[in-house]
Order: sequence, then structure tokens, then C-alpha cells
Amino acid sequence: MKKEIGIGLAGFGTVGSGVYKNLVRNGALIEERAGVCFRVRRIAVKDLAEPRAVEAPEELFVTRPDELIEDPGIQIVIELMGGIDFPLAFIRRAIQAGKSVITANKALLAEHGREIFELAKEKKVAVFFEAAVAGGIPIIKAVRESFVGNHIECIHGIFNGTSNYILTRMTDAGLDFSPALEEAQKLGYAEADPALDVNGWDAAHKAIILASLAYGFWVDPAKVHVEGIENVTASDIRFADELGYRIKLIATIKADDEGKIEVRVAPTLIPKSHVLASVNGVFNAVAVRGDVVGETLFYGRGAGQDPTSSAVLCDLVEAGIALSSPKESHGFAAHDLYGDCKPVADSVSKFYLRLGVEDRPGVLAQIAGALGAADIGILSVIQPESHTGEFISLVLILHDAPYGKMLTATKTLAALPCVKSEPLLLHMETFL
Ligand code: HSE
Repeated sequence: MKKEIGIGLAGFGTVGSGVYKNLVRNGALIEERAGVCFRVRRIAVKDLAEPRAVEAPEELFVTRPDELIEDPGIQIVIELMGGIDFPLAFIRRAIQAGKSVITANKALLAEHGREIFELAKEKKVAVFFEAAVAGGIPIIKAVRESFVGNHIECIHGIFNGTSNYILTRMTDAGLDFSPALEEAQKLGYAEADPALDVNGWDAAHKAIILASLAYGFWVDPAKVHVEGIENVTASDIRFADELGYRIKLIATIKADDEGKIEVRVAPTLIPKSHVLASVNGVFNAVAVRGDVVGETLFYGRGAGQDPTSSAVLCDLVEAGIALSSPKESHGFAAHDLYGDCKPVADSVSKFYLRLGVEDRPGVLAQIAGALGAADIGILSVIQPESHTGEFISLVLILHDAPYGKMLTATKTLAALPCVKSEPLLLHMETFL
């Protein structure tokens, strides 16, 4: 007879009901692998009358999530409610009560991970979060366990399927941002409120969690550079294409020689030949470079009911095994080898700069002069002819420079009388 472990499921939306469905579907396999028997004892929902996409016995449903914590037969609480304040208080109470916790809540971990894991350590309970980053891609387990013998040199990720879908459609069909977003919403990829998808913060929450795991300290969200894709136009994508690049919303996580950590999420030009440039549609991908392993690549679906439940089930098995053989800490191991983030202004890369300028003699010289005065070198320039008689686009690829210096130079350029539209400055990543 296998030991029985009671589960409390908080939330029965897309992911919660998917976890239940797949636990029923693959229950025998999962129990064989975990060596324990899982039983869902309670499911907390907001409204008992709300229609459910997945069938489950009526007697399991409750409306007070704390019933999960109060049930002595429940050892593992799975938090899939969404939001921040309520789940934070709920998880704190679950940990205080000695329950193992599984959550897919990226915003919660990015903002309160430190506190949650300190409490979990104190109470000697495990908190697992595989589903919080890149859905079905097992990147948390890989960074935490498979690369444990490596210094992580850098991680580059496409962490938001909606943005990636929009940029793919802008690239392949020449759509502008708004129609591409509308399409993503119609297909159910973008959230009803797509703000976090397109403003970069959904990807940033995931990057913060992964960076924290890779470098052993909780990265302060205030030290992360976050830009969305809202200002990228179909023309930028065409210009980048002409220059040999794709524009992707890339999360860049890297350690410099002094051990300072840079975390940045921004629409970024990457060479067409790089493998991340071929990651299209709603797919996510993560490239991890370790000092021992070298380059690795993970690819898969970063959202959706089944991929995300696959990650939660992985956590469930791990939590079940951990309950059978307790260790000091699970899920996050803090250490002091790293400990600070690099100021955003010091982050060095090449840049793409698009300016709308007057079409008259001397303009190019003025721009080049201002960049030269700021000690910023020009790598290449394109200036497509205008057929509308309005100002023309001037696209420059700029040599490596610190972001702060680049931003100041961009402001100087924006103030020149010959510059007629808000400049667009994008990071570039050459993966060297
Ligand atoms: N909305 C996200 C995406 C998935 O489009 O990738 C949840 O983080």
C-alpha cells in the first residue's frame, strides 16, 4: 500500500482544472513515479455555481480557501488563484501550517519570493514553482538541479507567447502592432487585459524568478530594465530584417566579470541566424549558457492548460517525494556568491536607433556629429527613401555603449530641430 498524500487545490480555472484533469488521466503513472498516492481532498473556488470546464465530484468544492489549510489530511496546497495580495496571505498561512506549497504565480514570486522562501525555510516546508516560468518548459528544475555544477554565464529567453505571436505576425504578414494584438486576442492568446503581456512585465516576472534561482539571491524588480513591444512598428521589423536581424521580446540575464547581475526585458534585435530568431508564434524558448555545460536550449509552450499543468504535476511529484524524505530546504537555495544587480544604465550592448528626420542636406552629418560627440560609434546606417514627402526614417546600428549614455545621446538627438518624431531605441544582442 502506498502512502496517501492529500492535496488541496486553490483555484479551478484554466490551470487548476487542467491539473485535476491530468492528475486523473495520468494518476497511475504519476503515483508509480512518485511512490505515493495523491488524493485531491478539497478544491477552493470563488463561486460554487460557476460553470466548470472539467468535471470533479461536487463534494470536493468549497468556497473558503482556508479550509484547505485547516484540513489535517491535506499536506500539499496548490495555489492557482491568481492575483497577489490574497494568494500571498494564503501561502503564508499554508506555510505557517506546515503545508508544502506549489504555485504558478509568477508576479507573486517575483515580488515576494524572498519573504516566501525565508518563511518556508524557517518552517522547513517546500515551495515549488515550475509552472511560474515558461509554462511547460522544465526550466526551473534544469537551472536548479541539472546545472547545479555550473556558474550560469547567461540566460536569454522568449518568455511571453503573446508578444512573440504579435512580433511573428508583424514579421511574417507585415501587420502593425494593433491588428496583430487584436488577432492574438481573438485567438485567445492575449489576456483580456493584455497590458502585462505587451508591456514586458509578464516576461520580467519570469526573468526575475529565473535570475534569482540562477544567482542565489532575490533580484529586486526595481533593478530590472523592462520595456514592452508597443512602440515597435512593422517598419522597424522591416529595417531590422534588411540589416540581418529579427526583433524579439528577449529576457537577458547575465553576470558580468565582477559578479554583478543584469536582468533586462526589452524588444531586442537578434541575428537571424541565432536559434531564438526561429522561435515563432506562441512558443517560448530559453537558452542557458553555463561555464561547464556550454550552450543549451529549451523550447516549448509557455502557456495553456495542459503545458502548465504538466509543470504543476512535476512539482506535485517532487513535493510528494520530499514529504516522504524531508530535506532542509527545497525549491530555492540562497548563497552569497553573487548579490547585486548591475545598474540599468551600465548595461552595455549594441543598439538600434530609428529617427524620423527632415530630408535635407546636412542632417545625417548633424546626427553623426552628435553621436560622435557622445563617443558613440555608428556600425551601419540605412535611410529608406520617402515617397510621401514627409520626414524620413533614419535607422542606425550603434556600437557597444552603456544604456545610460545611449539614452542621454538619444534625448540630445530628439531635441535637434531636424529630428521630427520620437526616436525608437532598441537593444541588440549578439550572444558573444
Ligand atoms: N500570457 C502569458 C503569455 C502566459 O502570453 O505567454 C502566462 O504568463
